[in-house]
Amino acid sequence: MKLDIIAGARPNFMKIAPIIEELEKHTDKIKYRLIHTGQHYDKKMSGSFFEQLGIPQPNVNLEVGSGTQAEQTARIMERYEALLLKEIADWVLVVGDVTSTMACSIAAKKLGVGVIHVEGGIRSNDITMPEEINRMVTDSITDIFYTTSEVANENLRLLGHKENKIKYVGNTMIDTLLKNMPKFIKPNDWDRIGLKEKQYFVMTLHRPANVDEDGNLKMLIDEIVKGAKGMPIVFPVHPRTAKNLKSIGIDAPNLFMIEPLGYLEFNYLVKNAFAVVTDSGGITEETTVMKIPCITLRDNTERPETITIGTNELVGTNPKNIAPFMAKLHSGDWKPGSIPKLWDGKTSERIVADLLNL
Ligand code: UD1
Repeated sequence: MKLDIIAGARPNFMKIAPIIEELEKHTDKIKYRLIHTGQHYDKKMSGSFFEQLGIPQPNVNLEVGSGTQAEQTARIMERYEALLLKEIADWVLVVGDVTSTMACSIAAKKLGVGVIHVEGGIRSNDITMPEEINRMVTDSITDIFYTTSEVANENLRLLGHKENKIKYVGNTMIDTLLKNMPKFIKPNDWDRIGLKEKQYFVMTLHRPANVDEDGNLKMLIDEIVKGAKGMPIVFPVHPRTAKNLKSIGIDAPNLFMIEPLGYLEFNYLVKNAFAVVTDSGGITEETTVMKIPCITLRDNTERPETITIGTNELVGTNPKNIAPFMAKLHSGDWKPGSIPKLWDGKTSERIVADLLNL
Protein backbone atom coordinates (compact mmCIF):
# COMPACT_ATOMS: atom_id res chain seq x y z
CA MET A 1 0.00 0.00 0.00
CA LYS A 2 1.21 3.51 -0.81
CA LEU A 3 0.24 6.00 1.87
CA ASP A 4 0.75 9.76 1.95
CA ILE A 5 0.88 11.37 5.40
CA ILE A 6 0.15 15.10 5.53
CA ALA A 7 1.40 17.56 8.13
CA GLY A 8 1.20 21.31 7.79
CA ALA A 9 0.82 23.25 11.01
CA ARG A 10 2.04 22.97 14.60
CA PRO A 11 -0.88 20.94 16.01
CA ASN A 12 -0.39 18.29 13.28
CA PHE A 13 3.13 17.31 14.23
CA MET A 14 2.36 15.67 17.61
CA LYS A 15 -0.52 13.79 15.96
CA ILE A 16 1.55 12.22 13.15
CA ALA A 17 4.70 11.44 15.18
CA PRO A 18 3.46 8.23 16.85
CA ILE A 19 1.73 7.01 13.67
CA ILE A 20 4.99 7.29 11.75
CA GLU A 21 6.90 5.54 14.52
CA GLU A 22 4.44 2.64 14.30
CA LEU A 23 4.49 2.59 10.48
CA GLU A 24 8.29 2.23 10.57
CA LYS A 25 7.72 -1.31 11.90
CA HIS A 26 5.75 -2.27 8.79
CA THR A 27 7.63 -0.70 5.88
CA ASP A 28 7.45 -4.01 3.99
CA LYS A 29 3.65 -3.68 3.77
CA ILE A 30 3.02 0.06 3.85
CA LYS A 31 5.23 2.47 1.90
CA TYR A 32 4.63 5.91 3.27
CA ARG A 33 5.63 9.34 2.07
CA LEU A 34 5.64 12.24 4.57
CA ILE A 35 4.48 15.51 3.05
CA HIS A 36 4.93 18.82 4.87
CA THR A 37 2.81 21.50 3.24
CA GLY A 38 4.92 24.32 4.71
CA GLN A 39 1.86 26.08 6.21
CA HIS A 40 3.97 26.56 9.33
CA TYR A 41 7.63 27.08 8.49
CA ASP A 42 9.41 28.74 11.46
CA LYS A 43 11.78 26.63 13.51
CA LYS A 44 9.67 27.47 16.54
CA MET A 45 6.36 26.49 14.89
CA SER A 46 7.62 23.48 12.94
CA GLY A 47 11.32 22.44 12.90
CA SER A 48 11.72 22.01 16.65
CA PHE A 49 8.78 19.57 16.73
CA PHE A 50 10.44 17.35 14.13
CA GLU A 51 13.67 17.32 16.16
CA GLN A 52 12.12 16.76 19.58
CA LEU A 53 9.55 14.17 18.53
CA GLY A 54 11.96 12.27 16.28
CA ILE A 55 9.84 12.76 13.15
CA PRO A 56 11.86 11.93 10.03
CA GLN A 57 12.57 14.72 7.55
CA PRO A 58 9.59 15.07 5.19
CA ASN A 59 10.03 13.40 1.80
CA VAL A 60 8.51 16.49 0.26
CA ASN A 61 7.97 20.07 1.48
CA LEU A 62 5.39 21.98 -0.54
CA GLU A 63 6.65 25.28 0.98
CA VAL A 64 3.35 27.12 0.69
CA GLY A 65 4.13 29.64 3.49
CA SER A 66 1.79 32.31 4.85
CA GLY A 67 -1.27 33.71 3.09
CA THR A 68 -5.00 34.18 3.39
CA GLN A 69 -7.16 31.08 3.92
CA ALA A 70 -7.92 30.83 0.21
CA GLU A 71 -4.35 31.53 -0.88
CA GLN A 72 -2.96 28.81 1.38
CA THR A 73 -5.70 26.35 0.39
CA ALA A 74 -5.15 27.00 -3.31
CA ARG A 75 -1.36 26.70 -3.13
CA ILE A 76 -1.52 23.47 -1.15
CA MET A 77 -4.06 21.93 -3.55
CA GLU A 78 -2.09 22.92 -6.63
CA ARG A 79 1.23 21.64 -5.32
CA TYR A 80 -0.10 18.44 -3.77
CA GLU A 81 -2.08 17.60 -6.91
CA ALA A 82 1.08 18.05 -8.99
CA LEU A 83 2.90 15.67 -6.68
CA LEU A 84 0.14 13.07 -6.92
CA LEU A 85 0.12 13.35 -10.69
CA LYS A 86 3.83 12.49 -10.70
CA GLU A 87 3.37 9.64 -8.24
CA ILE A 88 -0.07 8.61 -7.13
CA ALA A 89 -0.84 7.15 -3.68
CA ASP A 90 -3.51 4.63 -2.66
CA TRP A 91 -4.49 6.52 0.47
CA VAL A 92 -3.84 9.90 2.05
CA LEU A 93 -3.86 10.20 5.84
CA VAL A 94 -4.71 13.64 7.19
CA VAL A 95 -4.95 14.71 10.83
CA GLY A 96 -6.85 17.41 12.68
CA ASP A 97 -8.52 20.44 11.20
CA VAL A 98 -6.01 22.84 9.72
CA THR A 99 -6.04 24.26 6.20
CA SER A 100 -3.55 21.61 5.05
CA THR A 101 -5.92 18.84 6.22
CA MET A 102 -8.77 20.05 4.03
CA ALA A 103 -6.72 21.11 1.01
CA CYS A 104 -4.89 17.79 0.68
CA SER A 105 -8.07 15.77 1.19
CA ILE A 106 -9.78 17.54 -1.70
CA ALA A 107 -6.80 17.26 -4.06
CA ALA A 108 -6.40 13.55 -3.28
CA LYS A 109 -10.06 12.56 -3.41
CA LYS A 110 -10.51 14.15 -6.85
CA LEU A 111 -7.74 11.91 -8.14
CA GLY A 112 -9.38 8.81 -6.69
CA VAL A 113 -7.09 8.54 -3.65
CA GLY A 114 -8.85 7.25 -0.51
CA VAL A 115 -9.01 9.71 2.41
CA ILE A 116 -8.28 8.69 5.99
CA HIS A 117 -9.07 11.31 8.63
CA VAL A 118 -7.46 10.96 12.04
CA GLU A 119 -9.54 12.94 14.57
CA GLY A 120 -12.54 12.92 12.22
CA GLY A 121 -16.06 13.73 13.38
CA ILE A 122 -15.47 16.43 15.99
CA ARG A 123 -17.56 19.60 15.66
CA SER A 124 -17.72 22.96 17.41
CA ASN A 125 -20.87 23.84 15.42
CA ASP A 126 -19.32 27.28 15.00
CA ILE A 127 -19.08 27.88 11.29
CA THR A 128 -17.21 31.16 11.80
CA MET A 129 -14.08 29.15 12.66
CA PRO A 130 -11.92 28.20 9.67
CA GLU A 131 -11.18 24.90 11.46
CA GLU A 132 -14.89 23.98 11.52
CA ILE A 133 -15.15 24.47 7.76
CA ASN A 134 -12.02 22.36 7.34
CA ARG A 135 -13.55 19.59 9.47
CA MET A 136 -16.87 19.61 7.62
CA VAL A 137 -15.32 19.56 4.16
CA THR A 138 -12.73 16.93 5.03
CA ASP A 139 -15.24 14.62 6.71
CA SER A 140 -17.66 14.91 3.78
CA ILE A 141 -15.11 13.16 1.52
CA THR A 142 -13.43 10.89 4.09
CA ASP A 143 -13.46 7.12 3.54
CA ILE A 144 -12.11 6.00 6.93
CA PHE A 145 -12.51 7.93 10.18
CA TYR A 146 -10.22 7.27 13.12
CA THR A 147 -11.99 9.00 15.99
CA THR A 148 -11.06 10.32 19.42
CA SER A 149 -14.43 10.29 21.19
CA GLU A 150 -17.93 8.84 21.40
CA VAL A 151 -19.28 12.30 20.58
CA ALA A 152 -17.35 12.27 17.29
CA ASN A 153 -18.76 8.82 16.47
CA GLU A 154 -22.28 10.06 17.11
CA ASN A 155 -21.73 13.21 15.00
CA LEU A 156 -20.64 11.04 12.08
CA ARG A 157 -23.60 8.66 12.47
CA LEU A 158 -25.98 11.62 12.46
CA LEU A 159 -24.36 12.76 9.20
CA GLY A 160 -25.21 9.36 7.72
CA HIS A 161 -21.72 7.84 7.63
CA LYS A 162 -21.75 4.03 7.72
CA GLU A 163 -20.74 2.31 10.95
CA ASN A 164 -17.93 0.35 9.24
CA LYS A 165 -16.19 3.62 8.28
CA ILE A 166 -16.10 4.93 11.86
CA LYS A 167 -13.28 3.51 13.97
CA TYR A 168 -12.98 4.69 17.54
CA VAL A 169 -9.28 4.35 18.28
CA GLY A 170 -8.46 7.13 20.80
CA ASN A 171 -6.13 10.06 20.57
CA THR A 172 -2.70 10.02 18.90
CA MET A 173 -1.82 13.34 20.56
CA ILE A 174 -2.01 11.51 23.87
CA ASP A 175 0.30 8.76 22.55
CA THR A 176 2.87 11.52 22.03
CA LEU A 177 2.19 13.10 25.40
CA LEU A 178 2.55 9.88 27.40
CA LYS A 179 5.62 8.77 25.50
CA ASN A 180 7.41 12.09 25.96
CA MET A 181 6.40 12.87 29.54
CA PRO A 182 9.64 11.43 30.99
CA LYS A 183 11.60 13.62 28.56
CA PHE A 184 10.00 16.97 29.32
CA ILE A 185 12.60 19.76 29.56
CA LYS A 186 12.60 22.58 32.09
CA PRO A 187 12.68 25.74 29.93
CA ASN A 188 15.35 28.40 30.55
CA ASP A 189 12.58 30.80 31.53
CA TRP A 190 11.91 28.75 34.68
CA ASP A 191 14.91 30.14 36.54
CA ARG A 192 14.87 33.49 34.82
CA ILE A 193 11.31 34.15 36.03
CA GLY A 194 11.79 32.24 39.28
CA LEU A 195 8.86 29.86 38.76
CA LYS A 196 7.78 27.47 41.50
CA GLU A 197 5.83 24.23 41.05
CA LYS A 198 2.04 24.75 41.02
CA GLN A 199 2.45 28.47 41.61
CA TYR A 200 2.09 29.94 38.12
CA PHE A 201 -0.28 30.03 35.17
CA VAL A 202 0.43 29.08 31.56
CA MET A 203 -1.52 31.02 28.96
CA THR A 204 -1.86 30.63 25.18
CA LEU A 205 -4.08 32.67 22.86
CA HIS A 206 -4.17 32.59 19.09
CA ARG A 207 -7.76 32.29 17.83
CA PRO A 208 -8.90 35.15 15.60
CA ALA A 209 -11.97 35.68 17.85
CA ASN A 210 -9.66 36.50 20.76
CA VAL A 211 -6.61 38.11 19.22
CA ASP A 212 -7.67 39.90 16.04
CA GLU A 213 -9.55 42.67 17.83
CA ASP A 214 -7.19 44.77 19.95
CA GLY A 215 -9.76 45.95 22.50
CA ASN A 216 -10.95 42.46 23.38
CA LEU A 217 -7.42 41.05 23.58
CA LYS A 218 -6.42 43.76 26.04
CA MET A 219 -9.51 43.23 28.20
CA LEU A 220 -8.99 39.45 28.24
CA ILE A 221 -5.38 39.76 29.29
CA ASP A 222 -6.16 42.42 31.90
CA GLU A 223 -8.81 40.15 33.49
CA ILE A 224 -6.45 37.18 33.60
CA VAL A 225 -3.66 39.27 35.09
CA LYS A 226 -6.06 40.51 37.77
CA GLY A 227 -7.46 37.03 38.46
CA ALA A 228 -4.00 35.51 38.86
CA LYS A 229 -3.58 37.49 42.10
CA GLY A 230 0.09 38.16 41.51
CA MET A 231 1.01 34.60 40.46
CA PRO A 232 3.30 34.64 37.40
CA ILE A 233 1.57 34.04 34.06
CA VAL A 234 3.83 32.53 31.43
CA PHE A 235 2.56 33.42 27.97
CA PRO A 236 4.32 31.84 24.97
CA VAL A 237 3.08 34.10 22.20
CA HIS A 238 1.89 32.69 18.86
CA PRO A 239 3.10 34.75 15.83
CA ARG A 240 -0.46 35.79 14.97
CA THR A 241 -0.99 37.14 18.51
CA ALA A 242 2.45 38.78 18.59
CA LYS A 243 1.55 40.95 15.61
CA ASN A 244 -1.53 42.28 17.40
CA LEU A 245 0.06 42.61 20.83
CA LYS A 246 2.64 45.06 19.53
CA SER A 247 0.02 47.74 19.02
CA ILE A 248 -1.78 47.48 22.37
CA GLY A 249 1.07 47.78 24.86
CA ILE A 250 0.33 45.44 27.74
CA ASP A 251 2.54 45.60 30.77
CA ALA A 252 2.01 43.83 34.09
CA PRO A 253 4.69 42.73 36.54
CA ASN A 254 3.34 39.16 36.71
CA LEU A 255 2.91 38.67 32.93
CA PHE A 256 5.85 37.05 31.14
CA MET A 257 5.52 37.02 27.36
CA ILE A 258 7.96 34.62 25.71
CA GLU A 259 8.54 33.10 22.26
CA PRO A 260 6.65 29.92 21.30
CA LEU A 261 8.25 26.97 23.13
CA GLY A 262 9.30 23.53 21.95
CA TYR A 263 6.95 20.63 22.71
CA LEU A 264 9.03 19.26 25.59
CA GLU A 265 9.50 22.66 27.22
CA PHE A 266 5.88 23.72 26.81
CA ASN A 267 4.48 20.56 28.34
CA TYR A 268 6.99 20.73 31.22
CA LEU A 269 5.44 24.09 32.04
CA VAL A 270 1.89 22.75 31.73
CA LYS A 271 2.54 19.67 33.86
CA ASN A 272 3.87 21.78 36.73
CA ALA A 273 1.41 24.67 36.44
CA PHE A 274 -1.25 25.74 38.92
CA ALA A 275 -3.63 26.16 35.96
CA VAL A 276 -3.76 26.82 32.22
CA VAL A 277 -5.69 29.51 30.36
CA THR A 278 -6.03 28.83 26.63
CA ASP A 279 -8.09 29.04 23.47
CA SER A 280 -6.45 25.99 21.91
CA GLY A 281 -8.36 22.72 21.50
CA GLY A 282 -5.36 20.40 21.68
CA ILE A 283 -4.08 21.88 24.95
CA THR A 284 -7.41 21.06 26.64
CA GLU A 285 -6.79 17.40 25.78
CA GLU A 286 -3.28 17.51 27.24
CA THR A 287 -4.42 19.25 30.45
CA THR A 288 -7.17 16.64 30.78
CA VAL A 289 -4.63 13.82 30.72
CA MET A 290 -2.19 15.65 33.02
CA LYS A 291 -5.14 16.63 35.29
CA ILE A 292 -4.25 20.32 35.27
CA PRO A 293 -7.17 22.76 35.73
CA CYS A 294 -7.86 24.48 32.42
CA ILE A 295 -9.87 27.58 31.56
CA THR A 296 -10.85 27.74 27.89
CA LEU A 297 -11.51 31.18 26.46
CA ARG A 298 -13.91 30.09 23.73
CA ASP A 299 -17.69 30.08 23.37
CA ASN A 300 -17.77 26.47 22.13
CA THR A 301 -15.57 23.44 21.83
CA GLU A 302 -15.28 20.50 19.46
CA ARG A 303 -13.82 18.53 22.38
CA PRO A 304 -16.71 18.41 24.92
CA GLU A 305 -15.20 15.38 26.69
CA THR A 306 -12.46 17.66 28.06
CA ILE A 307 -15.25 19.35 30.03
CA THR A 308 -17.65 16.50 30.81
CA ILE A 309 -14.84 14.08 31.72
CA GLY A 310 -11.68 16.20 31.99
CA THR A 311 -10.42 19.23 33.91
CA ASN A 312 -11.50 21.86 31.42
CA GLU A 313 -14.14 24.61 31.81
CA LEU A 314 -15.56 26.58 28.91
CA VAL A 315 -15.49 30.19 30.06
CA GLY A 316 -16.31 32.01 26.82
CA THR A 317 -14.71 34.99 25.12
CA ASN A 318 -16.40 37.67 27.21
CA PRO A 319 -13.70 39.03 29.58
CA LYS A 320 -16.37 39.53 32.29
CA ASN A 321 -16.80 35.73 32.61
CA ILE A 322 -13.24 35.15 33.79
CA ALA A 323 -13.27 36.38 37.41
CA PRO A 324 -15.60 33.72 38.94
CA PHE A 325 -13.57 30.88 37.40
CA MET A 326 -10.33 32.42 38.65
CA ALA A 327 -11.88 32.65 42.12
CA LYS A 328 -12.89 28.99 41.92
CA LEU A 329 -9.33 28.03 41.02
CA HIS A 330 -7.91 29.86 44.02
CA SER A 331 -10.52 28.31 46.33
CA GLY A 332 -9.11 24.87 45.48
CA ASP A 333 -12.37 23.12 44.58
CA TRP A 334 -11.74 22.58 40.85
CA LYS A 335 -13.06 19.24 39.54
CA PRO A 336 -10.40 16.49 39.64
CA GLY A 337 -11.36 15.10 36.19
CA SER A 338 -10.68 11.70 34.65
CA ILE A 339 -9.35 10.46 31.32
CA PRO A 340 -11.54 9.63 28.29
CA LYS A 341 -11.73 6.05 27.07
CA LEU A 342 -8.82 4.89 24.85
CA TRP A 343 -6.66 7.95 25.54
CA ASP A 344 -4.13 5.39 26.68
CA GLY A 345 -1.00 5.84 24.55
CA LYS A 346 -1.87 2.94 22.21
CA THR A 347 -3.95 4.71 19.58
CA SER A 348 -1.29 4.64 16.85
CA GLU A 349 -0.87 0.88 17.33
CA ARG A 350 -4.61 0.49 16.77
CA ILE A 351 -4.55 2.73 13.71
CA VAL A 352 -1.65 0.94 12.04
CA ALA A 353 -3.09 -2.50 12.85
CA ASP A 354 -6.23 -1.38 11.06
CA LEU A 355 -4.34 0.18 8.13
CA LEU A 356 -2.64 -3.18 7.54
CA ASN A 357 -6.08 -4.65 6.89
CA LEU A 358 -7.34 -2.03 4.46
C1 UD1 B 1 -3.22 27.48 12.36
C2 UD1 B 1 -4.45 26.59 12.30
C3 UD1 B 1 -5.02 26.42 13.70
C4 UD1 B 1 -3.98 25.94 14.68
C5 UD1 B 1 -2.82 26.92 14.65
C6 UD1 B 1 -1.73 26.48 15.61
C7 UD1 B 1 -5.77 26.74 10.24
C8 UD1 B 1 -7.00 27.27 9.64
N1 UD1 B 1 -5.50 27.17 11.48
O1 UD1 B 1 -3.65 28.79 12.70
O2 UD1 B 1 -6.07 25.47 13.64
O3 UD1 B 1 -4.53 25.87 15.98
O4 UD1 B 1 -2.30 26.95 13.31
O5 UD1 B 1 -0.61 27.25 15.53
O6 UD1 B 1 -5.08 25.96 9.61
N2 UD1 B 1 3.29 32.42 11.00
C9 UD1 B 1 4.61 32.58 11.34
N3 UD1 B 1 5.40 31.47 11.35
C10 UD1 B 1 4.94 30.23 11.05
C11 UD1 B 1 3.58 30.09 10.73
C12 UD1 B 1 2.77 31.19 10.73
O7 UD1 B 1 5.07 33.68 11.61
O8 UD1 B 1 5.72 29.26 11.06
C13 UD1 B 1 2.40 33.60 10.97
C14 UD1 B 1 1.73 33.73 9.61
O9 UD1 B 1 2.47 34.50 8.77
C15 UD1 B 1 0.39 34.34 9.97
C16 UD1 B 1 0.12 33.87 11.38
O10 UD1 B 1 1.36 33.38 11.89
O11 UD1 B 1 0.48 35.73 9.99
C17 UD1 B 1 -0.94 32.81 11.39
O12 UD1 B 1 -0.52 31.59 10.75
P1 UD1 B 1 -1.56 30.63 9.98
O13 UD1 B 1 -0.90 29.38 9.60
O14 UD1 B 1 -2.22 31.43 8.93
O15 UD1 B 1 -2.70 30.29 10.99
P2 UD1 B 1 -2.67 30.05 12.55
O16 UD1 B 1 -3.35 31.21 13.19
O17 UD1 B 1 -1.30 29.68 13.02
